[in-house]
Amino acid sequence: MDTESREKRVVFADSVQIDKAVMAIANQINEEYKEKSPLLIGILKGSFVFLADLARKLDMAVEIDFIGLSSYHEQKKSTGKISLYCEPSAIIRGRDVILVEDLVDTGLSTSFAVDYVKNEGANSVKLCALLDKKSCRVVDVAVDYFGFDLPDRFVVGYGMDYNEKYRHLKDIIILGDE
Ligand code: PRP
Repeated sequence: MDTESREKRVVFADSVQIDKAVMAIANQINEEYKEKSPLLIGILKGSFVFLADLARKLDMAVEIDFIGLSSYHEQKKSTGKISLYCEPSAIIRGRDVILVEDLVDTGLSTSFAVDYVKNEGANSVKLCALLDKKSCRVVDVAVDYFGFDLPDRFVVGYGMDYNEKYRHLKDIIILGDE
């Protein structure tokens, strides 16, 4: 981590805890999608590490795609504006889609993604999020598979960033201002 940064950090979940949580989610999906071949759609960019770990714990034939969404933040808070900068390349019509998110905060990004895949004609849509920050919801979003409840704190690592830094960290770190 950047040693010159003045932000204070506390580990929220280390790599062992994360691995256990991802395994628990994979077990549920393995059970529920036994006879299916779901299309996993990772919401970029934050989900890329979680999606890579989750996919390698799944037993069925999955397909993988991505949707690029950006929610604009000011002072670590969402402004509520979402932009779609990269559409999935897969044909979604008739597919059983599992949206894969690192974090559901206001719910605006995931709600946008759910509407997108429904409009594209998905047969079913479920939402999988490693972290669920329920106290910050602005729109009602049901998370079907999740790893950790997250209090109202700003986290980085395991794919998540602050100003594009820290995505490569193995642990999930709470970032606070000193
Ligand atoms: C973060 C995170 C989620 C989204 C959650 O992404 O990865 O996708 O915000 O916030 P919401 O529930 O309030 O919409 P961000 O827009 O920062 O983009 P990134 O994944 O590229 O970092």
